[in-house]
Amino acid sequence: MANTNGSKKIKVSKDDSMREVYPNARAIEVAGWCCPRVRAGRRSAEGSRGAISIAMLVWLLRSGLTILRVNQNLLPRIARLLWPYRWPVMGGAACLVVALAMELYPPLVWLRVVDVELPAKNINGMAFWLGTYLLSVVIGQIFTAARTLLLEIAGQRLTLDLRLQLYSKLQNQSAEYLSRQRAGDLISRITSDVEAIQDLLINGTDTVLASALRLVAVAGILIILQPTLGLLVILPMFGVGFLLARYNTRVRPFYRAARRRLGEFTARLSENITGMRLIQSFAREDGEFGVLKGLGQALLAEQIGAVKLRNKRFPFIRFVAALGQFLMLAGGVAFIMMGKFTLGGLLAYRGYGRYFFGPVDDLVGVNDLVQRASAAGARIFEVLDAPISLQNAPDAQPIPPLRGEIAFENVSFGYDEGHPVLRDISLRILPGQRVVILGPSGIGKSTLLTLVARFYDPTFGRVLVDGIDVRQITLQSLRSQIGQVQQDTFLFNASVMENVRFGRPSATKAEVEQACRVANAHAFICDLPKGYDTLVGERGVKLSGGQKQRISIARAVLANPAMLLLDEPTSAVEPDSEAAILEALERLMHGRTTLIVTHRLSLARSADCVVVMAGGRLAEVGSPQELAVIPGGRFAGMMT
Ligand SMILES: Nc1ncnc2c1ncn2[C@@H]1O[C@H](COP(=O)(O)OP(=O)(O)O)[C@@H](O)[C@H]1O
Ligand SMILES: [Mg+2]
Repeated sequence: MANTNGSKKIKVSKDDSMREVYPNARAIEVAGWCCPRVRAGRRSAEGSRGAISIAMLVWLLRSGLTILRVNQNLLPRIARLLWPYRWPVMGGAACLVVALAMELYPPLVWLRVVDVELPAKNINGMAFWLGTYLLSVVIGQIFTAARTLLLEIAGQRLTLDLRLQLYSKLQNQSAEYLSRQRAGDLISRITSDVEAIQDLLINGTDTVLASALRLVAVAGILIILQPTLGLLVILPMFGVGFLLARYNTRVRPFYRAARRRLGEFTARLSENITGMRLIQSFAREDGEFGVLKGLGQALLAEQIGAVKLRNKRFPFIRFVAALGQFLMLAGGVAFIMMGKFTLGGLLAYRGYGRYFFGPVDDLVGVNDLVQRASAAGARIFEVLDAPISLQNAPDAQPIPPLRGEIAFENVSFGYDEGHPVLRDISLRILPGQRVVILGPSGIGKSTLLTLVARFYDPTFGRVLVDGIDVRQITLQSLRSQIGQVQQDTFLFNASVMENVRFGRPSATKAEVEQACRVANAHAFICDLPKGYDTLVGERGVKLSGGQKQRISIARAVLANPAMLLLDEPTSAVEPDSEAAILEALERLMHGRTTLIVTHRLSLARSADCVVVMAGGRLAEVGSPQELAVIPGGRFAGMMT
C-alpha cells in the first residue's frame, strides 16, 4: 500500500518535489541521473551556494597540499627526479581515475534503485542498474591491475636508474671526497634512501592522487546531492586538515633524526663486519656491541618518538573526522524529516562516507611517505650535488702511449690547508729510469706517488708526464698507462683469474698465466685447491701477504703500463717469499719508468736515482753511488 502511494506521489509531483529535494538537479541530470524531466533551474540561490561549494573545495585542496608540507627546496627536486617516469606514472594515474570513478559509482546505484526504481517497482530498471553495478566492479578491477603494473614498472626503473646514477657519481669522485665518506653510509643512501624515493613514486602517486581525488569527488557529489547537508558533513574535514598540518610540523624532526641515525648505524655495522677480525683479536666484542646497541637504541627512541606523537594526536583527529559521520546521520535524518532529502540519498551518503573519512588515515600514510622521502632525498642529493674536486679539465686530451718521462716542478701539496706535506719539490725522471724514494714514515712518500696518477692536484707547481701537465690529460688515459702496486693489495672476492684479469679485461687465459709466471705466481696458484678458479675471499683473506702481492704484480704485468708507481711493495710480505717477489718486481720494472718507495736497500743500490725525503723536501737526490759517499749524508748513513 505504502509503496504504491509513494510511487504515485513521486510520479505525480516529480518536477516540483525532485527539484525541492535536489536543488542542483541540473548537475545530476547532466549525468543522466534521477530527474530526467527537470529542465530549468532556479539559478540565483543555487548560484551563490555553488560558489561557496567551489570555494570550500579549493580550500580543501589547498589544505590537503599544506598537509604535505616539506622542505620547500626538496620537493621540486624530487619531482624532477621522478620526471623521466612521467609517462608510466601518468598512465597509472589515468587508470586510477577510471578505477576511482568505478569505485564511486555503486552508491549512485543505491540512490537510483531505492529512490526511483523501487517505488516504481520497475524490475527491468533495477536489473539494468544492478547490472551496471557489476560491470563497474569488473572495469574497476581491470584498471586497478593496469595501474599497479604501470606504477610498479616506473618505480623499479627509478630505483635502478637512481642507484646507477649515484654509483657513477661516486666512481667519478675524487680521492679527497671518498676518503671523507663511510662506505656503509653511502651504501645505505644507495639502497634504503633510494627505496624511500621509489616508495614515494609508487605509493605516493597512488595514495595521494587517490585520496585527493576521492576527497574532491566525494565532496562534490555530496554537495550536489544536498548542498546544505553536504557542506555540513564536510565541515569537520577542515579541522582535520588543520590538525594534520600541525602534526606534520611536529613529527618532521623525528624522521630527519631517524634517517641520519640509520645511516650511522649502517656505516658502523659495515665497518665492524669488515673489521671483525680486528675486533675479535683485541677482544673488543663487548665494546663494539655496546656502541652498535647505543646507536640502535637512539634510532629506536626516534622512531618510537614519532609513533608516540602520532598516537597522542590521532585519537583526537579521528574524533573530529568522526564528527562528520555523526553530522551525516543526524543531519541526514533531519533533512529527510524536513522533506529536503530522501532515504536513497542518505544511503548514497553513507556509501560515500567511507571514501570521505577513510583518506584521513591514507593522508597520514602519505605524510609518512613524503617525510621519509624528503629526508632520503636530502641524503641522495648530498651525494649527487657534491662537487667533484678533481676531474678532467675542459680542454683535457687523452695522451698517446707514454714514453715515460715524469717531472715535478716546484710542487707543494697538503691534504689540509695549513698542513703542507710536500714543499717545493722539483725532480725529473727520464723514460725507463728507476727512482727509489726513501725517508721516514709519514714524510710524504706515498703522497708524492699519488700526485703522478693525479689522485690529488698540487697546491703549487706542476706534475708533468712526457712534458704535459697531468691536469691537461684525461684521467682515464693517464691512469690506464700507469701501473700501481701498493703495500696492502686489494683483491676482489672473485677467482684468481678474474683478479689478475682486472689489469686487462681482454686478456686471454694464456696471457694471464704468462703474466703470473713473470710475477712468480703461477706455481703457487696451481697449488691452490681450484687453481686459477680459486676464490680468494673477501679482500683476498684466503691468500698470504706475499701471494696477494704477487697477484697484484701479475695484474700490473698484464696491464703492461709505461710507468710504475710501487709503494712499499715488499713490506707486507713474509721473508721467505721476498726473494720471489723481488725477482718478480725486477722483471716488472724492466724497461719501465718506475717510482718506488721501499726500505729495501738492495733495490736502492740498483736504482738509477735515489731520493731521500726529509721535512717534506727532497733532502738528497742522486745516483746511489754518489749519495753513498757524501760524508754525513742520510743515504750514506743508511748504507752503513
Ligand atoms: N688522505 C689523507 N688525508 C689527510 N692526510 C693524509 C692523507 N694521507 C696521508 N696524509 C698525511 O700526509 C702525511 C704524509 O703521508 P704519506 O704520504 O702517506 O707518508 P709516507 O708514505 O711517507 O709514510 C702524513 O702526515 C699523513 O698523516
Ligand atoms: Mg706510505
